[in-house]
Amino acid sequence: MSSENLPQSTEQQLRKPRVAVVFGGRSSEHGISVVTAGAVLNAIDRTKYDVLPIGITTDGRWALTADEPERMAITDRTMPDVAQLAESEEGGVVLSVDPGSREVVYSEPGSVPKALGEVDVVFPVLHGPYGEDGTLQGLLELSGVPYVGAGVLASAVGQDKEYMKRVFTSFGLPVGPYVVVRPREWDNDPQGARKRITDFAGEHGWPLFIKPARAGSSIGITKVDDVSGLDEAIEEARRHDPKFLVESLLRGREIECGVLEFEDGPRASVPAEIPPVTSHDFYDFEAKYIDAASGIVPAPLTAEETAEVQRLAVEAFEAASCEGLVRADFFLTEDGGFVINEINTLPGFTPISMYPRMWQESGVSYPQLVDRLIQAALDRPTGLR
Ligand SMILES: Nc1ncnc2c1ncn2[C@@H]1O[C@H](COP(=O)(O)OP(=O)(O)O)[C@@H](O)[C@H]1O
Ligand SMILES: [Mg+2]
Repeated sequence: MSSENLPQSTEQQLRKPRVAVVFGGRSSEHGISVVTAGAVLNAIDRTKYDVLPIGITTDGRWALTADEPERMAITDRTMPDVAQLAESEEGGVVLSVDPGSREVVYSEPGSVPKALGEVDVVFPVLHGPYGEDGTLQGLLELSGVPYVGAGVLASAVGQDKEYMKRVFTSFGLPVGPYVVVRPREWDNDPQGARKRITDFAGEHGWPLFIKPARAGSSIGITKVDDVSGLDEAIEEARRHDPKFLVESLLRGREIECGVLEFEDGPRASVPAEIPPVTSHDFYDFEAKYIDAASGIVPAPLTAEETAEVQRLAVEAFEAASCEGLVRADFFLTEDGGFVINEINTLPGFTPISMYPRMWQESGVSYPQLVDRLIQAALDRPTGLR
């Protein structure tokens, strides 16, 4: 009996699950996403899975790229780019939005489209807008292909610092003081918005952090010491997002905790501490990715503090309806309590990034972590869950 005549489920059992690793993308975190995808491609167990690398260029073309992780590293402080890895300058990959087909098709202008076979699971290694924010997840929901990590809602919540805080608050998680300024308010009444911000500073004190609501990697964030720096900081935040947040400075230690979905539910890793940076004003883009990762794993906390932050991290995972993984970031304030700063549904994921390091220290190696995430995605039912 040829495999064509077998029921699909039997045929699927005869071949290895095929993982499409999707990376790059339109966000400012394109380069780091390529670096991470290189590490993920390296770590996927090829005896267990087949792999299809798909790079998204900075202008949004889904390109077929070679399975060559060694070309996906930082060289001379320069980030790799999908355009350099793409097998052609024009060809594009399309994942069918028909949930009855998991077929991936490659087409190039002037040529007959070529079927690349079925994909069983997508591993989106993408940070920021059009990758980590629910948009790609929506496409994958339409296509009916299971995927690693958070679904549409959790991804969108994790990308929007306003809604993230609203969700946390409604679930009883401790959140620091903040103000949100939406585009219409700023456009119609900037004076009123400025007054709201200075009143907030009057109550909570300077400095303030001005942040774009939907960015990442500290991009667009400014710490403002007094009112003279306010307008410039708002302008900078609004270059990245017309909606911005104002927060008071939280004094204390920065503590992070990883959550990973196992067969019996989400579990927290050992926490890590991000020491205050001296060469940078705060934990910004350079400090995160270019400098050697300086996080302390495990964080030097008491057993009670560790248990508390782990409990809060799992609660944050549940509050936002996360799936697969999340990194929850906290401040341990001077009064001894934890305040949640944010969650990242696709946290930094190179082998030296905090999330994999916390799991390494918790007994889950990088290849095991990659495998667990793929497995969690394959085990999950598609559709409403
Ligand atoms: N309210 C705050 N008080 C003190 N430090 C802050 C505050 N908000 C942000 N930071 C610092 O800025 C960094 C980036 O801010 P964060 O909200 O995590 O944005 P991103 O999504 O870009 O990572 C944090 O890791 C922390 O070091
Ligand atoms: Mg952060």
